[in-house]
Amino acid sequence: MSTLERPEAGLRRAKPAVIDEVFASDVLAGLSKPQKELPCRWFYDTRGSELFEAITGLPEYYPTKTEAKILTACALELSGLAGPRVAMIEYGAGAAVKTRLLLDALEAPLYYAPVDISAAFLRGVAENLAREYPAIAMRPIIGNFLSDLEIPTELQTAQRRLGFFPGSTIGNLSDDEITAFFRRARRQLGEDGMLVIGADLRKSPDILIPAYDDSAGVTAAFNKNLLARINRELGGDFDLERFSHKAVWNDADSRIEMHLVSDIAQSITLLGKSFDFAGGESIHTENSRKFSVPGLQSLAEDCGWRPVRVWEDPQKLFSVQMFG
Ligand code: TRP
Repeated sequence: MSTLERPEAGLRRAKPAVIDEVFASDVLAGLSKPQKELPCRWFYDTRGSELFEAITGLPEYYPTKTEAKILTACALELSGLAGPRVAMIEYGAGAAVKTRLLLDALEAPLYYAPVDISAAFLRGVAENLAREYPAIAMRPIIGNFLSDLEIPTELQTAQRRLGFFPGSTIGNLSDDEITAFFRRARRQLGEDGMLVIGADLRKSPDILIPAYDDSAGVTAAFNKNLLARINRELGGDFDLERFSHKAVWNDADSRIEMHLVSDIAQSITLLGKSFDFAGGESIHTENSRKFSVPGLQSLAEDCGWRPVRVWEDPQKLFSVQMFG
């Protein structure tokens, strides 16, 4: 059975024995706001990660393919700018294909340090890469790259630290989070450190909307999996048949917004609380900001980074930007 054919989790009324308190309080707080919202970091449970993997292969979802093409084309030049014997720190590791493109191109890199909140996931990544790259020391860092991380001091023995933040994940952050990320990365990577960021670019909604609302319904399933996860893990009773996925282009804020819209007036309950929905009322689940090159550069420059080089595909769909 393919990941797409697997039935969604339906109604679950029994409260699970073990509850992630942080997940629970995030969900309760988000659903209590006037504009209901759910923080996007909860998308990525096992099922969510599988669905996101499927999204990256969709014909409409141009970012992953385009970024990989740009990285393939610019890898040697990037490697020349980074220099030999670097420690590469990847924020939000998981983009194994892109990681390999860089590790293959870099000159005798010393360390690879993927950062992720999932210890089990990191173990898998590090084990796979260790087999393929026996000369590179794997130093997985368990943590949230939005909070302060302990970067192992031995990484300072590398010639230089090179941060890698692919996938336009930067576009899923708020302005404040972007600024905090740039400032922290400056501290973690050092004054001579460099940072390579994959950032999606502004373009016509005719291209953007299908990328976030594909014809096979995979993005819809990905978005709705958040409700299924709340049902599974927090004993919620969301009826997945009565919510619809919606992708909206917000031009003023230059972002795609993902929503789950209640098809009818209804109430749901979870953890002993009930939440009312008007027909057509939405839960805001994700922002995917689209940048202009100067826009991202000026955010970076405000936080102590200098633009070094920008690579784009010929259609200017996506950018890979290097800062130093
Ligand atoms: N970083 C990805 C992006 O913004 C994440 C993503 C792709 C996503 N498709 C999604 C997040 C659908 C939520 C829903 O493009």
